[in-house]
Amino acid sequence: MEPMLSVRNLVKRFGGLVAVNHVSLDIYPDEVVGLVGDNAAGKSTLIKCISGVYHPEEGEIYFEGKQIFFSRPIDAREAGIETIYQDLALANNLNVSANIFMGREVKKNYLGGLVRVLDEDYMLDASKKVLDQLDIRFSSLVQKIENLSGGQRQAVAIARAMYWNARLMIMDEPTNNLGVVEQRKVLDLIHRLRDQGVPVILISHTLPDVFAVTDRIIVLHRGHKVTEKRTSETNSQEIVQYMVGALDDTRLESETT
Ligand SMILES: Nc1ncnc2c1ncn2[C@@H]1O[C@H](COP(=O)(O)OP(=O)(O)O)[C@@H](O)[C@H]1O
Ligand SMILES: [Mg+2]
Repeated sequence: MEPMLSVRNLVKRFGGLVAVNHVSLDIYPDEVVGLVGDNAAGKSTLIKCISGVYHPEEGEIYFEGKQIFFSRPIDAREAGIETIYQDLALANNLNVSANIFMGREVKKNYLGGLVRVLDEDYMLDASKKVLDQLDIRFSSLVQKIENLSGGQRQAVAIARAMYWNARLMIMDEPTNNLGVVEQRKVLDLIHRLRDQGVPVILISHTLPDVFAVTDRIIVLHRGHKVTEKRTSETNSQEIVQYMVGALDDTRLESETT
């Protein structure tokens, strides 16, 4: 199987600081990959290089076989790379359906084309379809976001990304501030995305969540990728050792060669 996303020798500097230091990684269509590391390890910077927020100084990014250069986040989104940040970027005063269509509202002709109005029925119907596809249930799609729980908001953000044809989903700390039951639901949703062929890169501090949901784990430490393991072949103690720099596979390689 070809990787959906390939990152090669990526370098991102901020002045004298190397936030991402020659990182390479591959993401395949059928997997959930955890991206972990201590604070300031470079996780968010790496993700922002992939999603067009930052421009790396060195290295290449390939998506679905083609080298890509995203000058703006909207370019990454149009290519099918959706990033869900912690703030979710939802409008609290709008309802579920309006949020799924936010910025890309569907209009219809009214009075023989004299007036264009929002096609609420179409948007409600389409929202319902995408929510059903992900097995997400709301008692009403005209509820405002401000009345939803944290997990439900996360679900709306995911549904919006799916409706707009996400091919790869990147999620930064999606289970932060959620109760146990809601965490479980978001993790289930991540599996559902993967099972529909949408790989997920999950950034998380919560190792139990990472172990519950990922197929593979990549650890960053001070900008370097220090290891990459199949989740079934490692454990939290070992991952923590990599996170704090006590273990480092790159060091091992340079010592043995
Ligand atoms: N916009 C920026 N300007 C300067 N330094 C930054 C910027 N963004 C991140 N950094 C620095 O880059 C390093 C990696 O940060 P970050 O990618 O946010 O790490 P993480 O997400 O793993 O906590 C940190 O030392 C951080 O201070
Ligand atoms: Mg971060």
